[in-house]
Amino acid sequence: MIITKIGLRLYFSAHNLAMHVLSGMSDPRGAAMTHSASTAPRGQTQALISASLDSPVLAAAYDRFGVLQFEHGKQLVALLHVARGESVLDIGAGTGRLAAYVAEIVGDDGRVVAVDPLPLRVDMARTRAARQFDAKVGRAEDLSAFRDGSFDVVYLNSVFHWVEDKPRALGEIYRVLRPGGRLGVNCHNPDHPHEVRLLVRQAMIAAQIELAPELGYPSLGISEAQLTEQISTAGFVGVLSEQRTFVDTFPNVEAVVGWASSSTFGNFLNGVSNADRNRVIETLGQLLEVKRGPDGIRLERYLAFATARKPVSSPE
Ligand SMILES: C[S@@+](CC[C@H](N)C(=O)[O-])C[C@H]1O[C@@H](n2cnc3c(N)ncnc32)[C@H](O)[C@@H]1O
Repeated sequence: MIITKIGLRLYFSAHNLAMHVLSGMSDPRGAAMTHSASTAPRGQTQALISASLDSPVLAAAYDRFGVLQFEHGKQLVALLHVARGESVLDIGAGTGRLAAYVAEIVGDDGRVVAVDPLPLRVDMARTRAARQFDAKVGRAEDLSAFRDGSFDVVYLNSVFHWVEDKPRALGEIYRVLRPGGRLGVNCHNPDHPHEVRLLVRQAMIAAQIELAPELGYPSLGISEAQLTEQISTAGFVGVLSEQRTFVDTFPNVEAVVGWASSSTFGNFLNGVSNADRNRVIETLGQLLEVKRGPDGIRLERYLAFATARKPVSSPE
């Protein structure tokens, strides 16, 4: 097990951000962010994840908070041995920080294409675009914009737990990889939830929120065993997996909420009224204090990492 310590030194006012995020002011279309979703009743287990809750404030916040995902993205890229001259597809690239890093690795002879379903984040990724780096709106389940065998490497960093139709996505990835091409994925494992997810659930229960606690911080994560099985079933070989643990430090509850809201593109506590939301966050703040150390609030996060390759000769 690898433990990576990431000290998150927030270089902006987490408090101001959280106030925007929490009040729903972030949504230029009005109250869609906090009020329009129907309240999922207790006992509902299917996560409702919407791609229409993103906003300029959330996208800009992710561009800063996403430094946590960037750190383990670099680990994923290292596992894939991405090399100069290679053609790489970053699926669910968000605002493109990791894709821009990979563009430096592949150099002028290589190519990086970043796709993401959220247009605001694609716009931000485009501001990082260079000659060998392009960003487009797209999703894992539909890679029809790309020809068969057109990439050496495809990766999804902190994305697979958002992908609804995973077998379809893996089929598409298999198709666009060249024979011998490599796949890298990391994914939230619901058998081993992040510490913050457990604390949010506790806070929702304590605040008696009318929403099933697991839906306050939704995810379509899968276990490490399911992940490797799905990758093998799609036809990949040489499947390797491991769970990695990360330790993130946050200065206060507002920073935790800002990170959770922007990473879930607005799905964190979606469908909870502003008053209930404030109660959950107040309780969460109290629960988080137990985790405070000299560097801040210290939370462990776990991800299943998997790598695999497309066989050199495809089965008949
Ligand atoms: C936590 S962010 C990770 C962003 C980026 N990979 C990084 O390392 O910072 C999750 C991203 O997954 C994207 N996403 C959600 N569903 C997706 C899908 N079906 N296909 C591709 N990307 C998806 C979201 O739009 C969001 O930008």
